[in-house]
Amino acid sequence: MDPYLELFLTQAEKSISFTNKLKDASHELSNRYREQDQTLLLKEDREAYLIARLPATLAVLKHVLAILAAKIDPNEVLSYVDLGAAFGASIFPMYELFPKLQSVTLIERDPIFYEMGKKLVKCTKHPLLSVIDWKKEDFTKANIDKVDLALFSYSIGEIDQKLALSLLDDIIPQTKKFLVIIEPGTPAGFTRIEKIRDYLITKGLHMVAPCPHMRKCPMENGDWCHFFKRVERSSLHRKIKQGEKGYEDEKFSYLVFSKKPAPLPAARVLRHIEKRKGHMYMTLCGQDGLEKKIISKKDKNVFKVVKKLKWGDEFN
Ligand SMILES: C[S@@+](CC[C@H](N)C(=O)[O-])C[C@H]1O[C@@H](n2cnc3c(N)ncnc32)[C@H](O)[C@@H]1O
Repeated sequence: MDPYLELFLTQAEKSISFTNKLKDASHELSNRYREQDQTLLLKEDREAYLIARLPATLAVLKHVLAILAAKIDPNEVLSYVDLGAAFGASIFPMYELFPKLQSVTLIERDPIFYEMGKKLVKCTKHPLLSVIDWKKEDFTKANIDKVDLALFSYSIGEIDQKLALSLLDDIIPQTKKFLVIIEPGTPAGFTRIEKIRDYLITKGLHMVAPCPHMRKCPMENGDWCHFFKRVERSSLHRKIKQGEKGYEDEKFSYLVFSKKPAPLPAARVLRHIEKRKGHMYMTLCGQDGLEKKIISKKDKNVFKVVKKLKWGDEFN
């Protein structure tokens, strides 16, 4: 793990003591978190988010950013804005993947997330510390300077859908290169992602991932496009969850768009590949929509390639 992130998470665990209130907050996190009135959130809700959610959302963020970083020269991302930054922890994967960063803007309206984040990030003595502009603001009202990359990580779903699209109208001209949006991998999260995808395409942006095309999304009959990332749980997280597994699979849906056309893969693997002795069964999203493919062992070269693939990978 990135040593700065490790320090951040260790400090976070040290600053939080296990109480039944924290355990309850963790269990009720999603319900209470979605309350319209965010002022109803308790300090324990933020602490529960830090322990029980942040490691998973950060792992997903790193995974998605790595998909972008693998397709571009990572040195071309010099600045970014994180809208709904919570504790500002996006700096860890961003710096790992885009080490030439020179300017970081973290926008968070919640005063407790903001203060806790500022304190924890300071403890890490992270190289980006001197270039972070922390803004305690509502991102729908903030003035945003031009940046190379704009990021909404699990945050755009917290505002009304119509407002989200009009906010994107303001963000697009301020985004010089890339727009990254991540939402929970639920039917509701995907519905938002699909609407935003269609909107960004009409605005002339270009798909980078996950779709292999910019035509209509072929998902139908209640199915939804999502991926997952396996994340180890910390000891405090396991204590809060009591007796549950030592890891969790964080499901997510995402979009990476670029201002410039980007090369697209032939297809992307959706779902686990069923790997049997003589055959493998794949579900793909390809140029002609969803496709089930059977790969026979007789087709040696393709079989060898597919054996190494997993859900979410490109298939060329
Ligand atoms: C689910 S958390 C995600 C936090 C972090 N980006 C992550 O990936 O873990 C959503 C965050 O967005 C913030 N947020 C939601 N709406 C906002 C708004 N209009 N302006 C600023 N921050 C907002 C919330 O306070 C919260 O910290």
